Amino acid sequence: MFSSLARKCKHASVCISLTRLKINPSRAQFRRLIKVYYRAHGRDLTWRCTRDPYKILISEVMLQQTQVERVRMKYPEFIARFPNFRALAAASLSDVFAAWQGMGYNRRALALKRLAQIVVERYGGVLPKDPKILDSLPGIGWATACAIMAFAYGQPFPFIETNIRRVFIHFFFPRTRKVSDAQILVQVAATLDMRNPREWYYALMDYGSYLACTVPNPNRRASQYRRQSRFEGSERQLRGRILAFLAKRGIAVRIDTLARTLGGSRRRIKKVLDTLVKEGFIIIRSNRISLSL
Ligand code: ADE
Repeated sequence: MFSSLARKCKHASVCISLTRLKINPSRAQFRRLIKVYYRAHGRDLTWRCTRDPYKILISEVMLQQTQVERVRMKYPEFIARFPNFRALAAASLSDVFAAWQGMGYNRRALALKRLAQIVVERYGGVLPKDPKILDSLPGIGWATACAIMAFAYGQPFPFIETNIRRVFIHFFFPRTRKVSDAQILVQVAATLDMRNPREWYYALMDYGSYLACTVPNPNRRASQYRRQSRFEGSERQLRGRILAFLAKRGIAVRIDTLARTLGGSRRRIKKVLDTLVKEGFIIIRSNRISLSL
């Protein structure tokens, strides 16, 4: 076991020399370094103090695209308001959006509500313990499914998220350009702690977060690296505003109403609406648009 979160390291100098460990370590050295670092500097995050699959799922979806500090502020409020799948499934969309306010990408909130309805209707309010089923639910991709398997059920599945990617590129691909996730996954699988994947992944994420402020971003050398595009004036922003507007209105509206209220050309709005229809978030009947729930 290598828990004891946020405990001060008794061997600070050891930690420091280990954190500066040379690149291309052996796998044993690598595991030791990550664990030593975690013992000394592991972050004390609320969602790490539970094994409740619902609470873990909410935190993972929040953390997909929002900074830890912001999630730290919003998560307790969201959980207090919607403490389980049934509460979330029964809530109105505008209440869910209100609790999501400030997190960005509010289609994740919509996906979570739909997911909660599916879990209640199909699985009696209990989250299935199967990564393939998790992967098929709204708002959950393969990496999030695996994270839930590790954090809620203690099951070791290799996965990558941004901090984990940073750690592996830094240590195992120090001079490689265009490192693919397939290459990284080989290393993730080979170093995975099969007995305690939960803490191992926490430790990797914390080390990745430490690297983020100490070395030039290794993820720039990831083959799938993309700079975050500007939010202001983006399609992403328009999507969010359309969904928020529809939830608040609660009744079907015409495209002209959207164009008038939100600004922007009809053509641009139509394009975003087409995508939202394809993704199943909205329906358009007799030229009137409403949320699909
Ligand atoms: N702890 C558990 N999941 C996490 C995540 N996705 N990011 C940061 N810390 C976490």
